[in-house]
Amino acid sequence: MKKYVILLLLLGSCFQLFANEPDSVYLFSYATTKNAGHNGLHFAWSMDGKDWKSIGPEMGFVSSDFGAWGSQKRMLTPYLTQDDKGTWHAVWSLNETEPSIAHAASADLVHWKRQSYPVVSKGNCVNPEIRFDGASKQFMLTWENSVDHKMYGCETKDFKTYSATHSIDAAARLNDRQSVILPEGSSIGQIHRVAWSQVALLQKTVESKRYWETLNDERTADDAVRFANLQPLEASLTIQTGASKPISDLLTGVFFEDINYAADGGLYAELIENRDFEYTLSDKDGHDRSWTSKHSWSLEGSGTTFTIDTVSPIHPNNPHFAVLNTTQAGAGLVNSGWEGIVLKKGEKYNFSMFVKLLSSSGGGVTISLVGKDSSVLATVLTRGFSRKWEKMSYVLTSNADVTDAKLVIKPLVSGVLGLDMISLFPQNTFMGRKNGLRKDLAQTIADIHPRFIRFPGGCVSHGDGLGNIYRWKNTIGLLEARKPQRNLWNYHQTAGLGYQEFFQYCEDIGAQPLPVIAAGVPCQNSHVGGPGQQGGVPMCEMDQYVQDVLDLIEWANGDAKTTKWGKIRAQNGHPKPFNLKYVGIGNEDLITDVFEERFTMIFNAVKAKHPEITVIGTVGPFYEGTDYEEGWALASKLQVPMVDEHYYESPGWFINHQDFYDKYDRTKSKVYLGEYAAHLPGRPNNLETALAEALYMTTLERNGDVVSMASYAPMLAKEGHTQWTPDMIFFNNFEVKPTTGYQVQKLYGQNAGDQYLSNSLTVSTRDDKACKRIASSVVRDSKTGDLMVKMVNLLPVSVKTQVKLDAFGNFAPKAERSVLTGKPDGRNLKPVVDEIGVSADFTCELPAYSFTVMRLKNVEK
Ligand code: AHR
Repeated sequence: MKKYVILLLLLGSCFQLFANEPDSVYLFSYATTKNAGHNGLHFAWSMDGKDWKSIGPEMGFVSSDFGAWGSQKRMLTPYLTQDDKGTWHAVWSLNETEPSIAHAASADLVHWKRQSYPVVSKGNCVNPEIRFDGASKQFMLTWENSVDHKMYGCETKDFKTYSATHSIDAAARLNDRQSVILPEGSSIGQIHRVAWSQVALLQKTVESKRYWETLNDERTADDAVRFANLQPLEASLTIQTGASKPISDLLTGVFFEDINYAADGGLYAELIENRDFEYTLSDKDGHDRSWTSKHSWSLEGSGTTFTIDTVSPIHPNNPHFAVLNTTQAGAGLVNSGWEGIVLKKGEKYNFSMFVKLLSSSGGGVTISLVGKDSSVLATVLTRGFSRKWEKMSYVLTSNADVTDAKLVIKPLVSGVLGLDMISLFPQNTFMGRKNGLRKDLAQTIADIHPRFIRFPGGCVSHGDGLGNIYRWKNTIGLLEARKPQRNLWNYHQTAGLGYQEFFQYCEDIGAQPLPVIAAGVPCQNSHVGGPGQQGGVPMCEMDQYVQDVLDLIEWANGDAKTTKWGKIRAQNGHPKPFNLKYVGIGNEDLITDVFEERFTMIFNAVKAKHPEITVIGTVGPFYEGTDYEEGWALASKLQVPMVDEHYYESPGWFINHQDFYDKYDRTKSKVYLGEYAAHLPGRPNNLETALAEALYMTTLERNGDVVSMASYAPMLAKEGHTQWTPDMIFFNNFEVKPTTGYQVQKLYGQNAGDQYLSNSLTVSTRDDKACKRIASSVVRDSKTGDLMVKMVNLLPVSVKTQVKLDAFGNFAPKAERSVLTGKPDGRNLKPVVDEIGVSADFTCELPAYSFTVMRLKNVEK
């Protein structure tokens, strides 16, 4: 909004300065053929229709939202018209094959409403045109079909329903696209006559965009020049201990998504890769020929063959299993784990597998854990097997510390064995949970003291195409009956870490569970089964889809004895309800009619049946733009209690948007900032990005009356297996490497409050850029009475700060102080903790590039 205020001011001054502007000029609308048509709708203007000036020049005022990023989202041959109310309507061709036309409307050519893509053709839609017929008050759409080389048309009044498509004569078309010579070269488009103010608005929009781009590009690398003359500063922070407002007590949480091998091979403690033999080429879109049921498995030795079968599996959800046909004992089936199995000396590991004898005779096997040097670290001999699938369990104790062991299963006699769900699980999981989490990783997350955990994503929640939507019911209960599936980040998801385990983890660390469920539409970047998010769950299946959402709430909260899903939860081992309070519906979706219809159904059903649940809606992937505006409008219309905002921006953006929430309307939906992170070129997680986040988080606390929750994203990343950086916590099989940004999250999580105290910061400089880089936040925890003072200094000089409290109260004379500081490119930094003497008036030095947290302990309570 601030941008538009600036824009209006600029526009206003421009009208005053240039009184002899023309009433009207020519406006040329076009799309460039550059970048395969991805650059959107462009404009140029001219006084005489001959000499043209580009507006931008490379500025797309609206881009296509159709299909997956990369290959789709193209705008070809746009065509514009105005209706009787002056609203602009644009239509364009999506690509060379699609039978749909794209439509979007705008009042001012700057802000565009949601797009729609009606299927109108039996072939494709080339060079579409649109015209408004004042008499019938309808729009006539026409296009060429380059498949049958004919022309077609249809009519609509509202861009929701369309007449049947009919053939038209070429004469029914306006054919008024023209070639115009622009400074960058010639382009084909349309010429319109518009008021000069329209062109001025477009120009000012570009200027405003460029202005913000410059600010958002500010980096510490330029500080030597930007702050060449800056000397160490002094500041004064005045805290009014009596003036506070309540803020959310859930502000800092975590975002879990199975991206970067965060689940299988990561937080989920299973040590066997591809335990279910369900890896399949399509998990990786066919790009890896080794990604099959045999991945991570091999045969060592001779006398045995290893094949995969699907006849009579343990469970239809888990159709593939291994078949070992031994004619002469000696060979072993080997699993290499997640590039090696980590074992700790003296620790116990639960081995289990399903096995059945497929021949008339056969005997047991040895199960061994073997080191790289062939040393046997643990071994066990099984009994014989029956002709039915049977689960066998053994405990193996490692006799050494290793990071690269393998599992070897060796048949002892000839015969044919079917094997499946071959699992090796440390007993030493987080809180000792069976089928639990890797202890070091789960503890690192718990140390943040997150007030909530969002799961299972991100894009994983809504999946790559309808068939890939994350269905919670497939992820509870017996492991062999859970339904594994392709992970949209191009690997495999066993569902071993499923809703049951997520809820358990939340309970174990005292965090609110925050499941995010697809709003009946898949990921907008889907490339499986159709163009992005333009298709939704068929309406005839939506009742069941809605019921699944209601069932989730019953599964989480229902009585273990009297409700169907409560009983199932109890059978799953958790009779006590999980006390679910929040459900996210949708993940940064395109706000289209397809979305709105399905979201509204789910929202209304949850509201009616479970008014106690806070539903969190979605407002697109960015902090501005069509989905943000339309998402907010929908949330306001439906009175959705909270919305999920996402933005990954540069440190400069976070520095220069500290007032983002200051101006949010407190009567509308609350905000869950569900995904955010500061991104620099090369995508490091370093002190510069961490301090930009810390600085911005002072504003989240200040606005904790409207921002209810926030989570950095993504959280976990396995080294060598990342699809996305930066992340908060990196790890390999045996080490956890928290980033500098992690330390910021942890300092906020561990020093959270539920009251925000009025405080004002004055700095001994009038340099606005310097002032913007120092920020403070003061919160109190009403339970302990402790006061937390957070101060960020993103400057290359120190800031000696005098902290003044109007009443010192019962604070201990020494406060714990944590200081995170270093060079801006410093990675994996840790805060230094010491004590600082505090009083009603004390001094604290903020080092250059630092984040300081002081915890004033209330000794009265
Ligand atoms: O956090 C990584 C991805 O970013 C999420 O899956 C998605 O919601 C967003 O685009």
